[in-house]
Amino acid sequence: MRIKSLLCTLAILTAIIAGVPMSLHPAGKEGLLLSLSCTSCHGTYGLSPGAIPTLYGKSRKYLIKTLIEFRNGDRDSTIMERIAKGYTENDIRLIANYFSSLTKKKKK
Ligand code: HEC
Repeated sequence: MRIKSLLCTLAILTAIIAGVPMSLHPAGKEGLLLSLSCTSCHGTYGLSPGAIPTLYGKSRKYLIKTLIEFRNGDRDSTIMERIAKGYTENDIRLIANYFSSLTKKKKK
């Protein structure tokens, strides 16, 4: 009994320290680290507090398409072309998985 509740507390603490939303869909986990460099401009969870577009709530398909367009210079941008050039197509897929998986949670 004691061991069980201790393990349970440990699991909860680990989740809190890791700062990972507990309901994050498994498909999004791999892209979490890569997406951290985006959240400095696009806001935590891609919820932008300012003029930079919000990524939260956008579909996987839209994110992949837009990032590839930025990367190829097919979409006008001030900064995203340079940023998108730093990522492989696989990175882009993982990042898109992450942001699109967040929409499976309830919006706050
Ligand atoms: C330095 C700030 C900055 C960082 C870092 C950044 N972005 Fe952006 N992002 C912007 C700005 C500004 C725009 C608007 C287009 C432009 O002017 O480049 C934008 C636009 C976008 C758009 C288009 C949104 C829409 O619906 O029009 C997507 C998608 C996007 N960014 C994804 C990302 C991803 C993914 C990352 C991380 C790999 C990232 N951004 C990192 C500033 C940033």
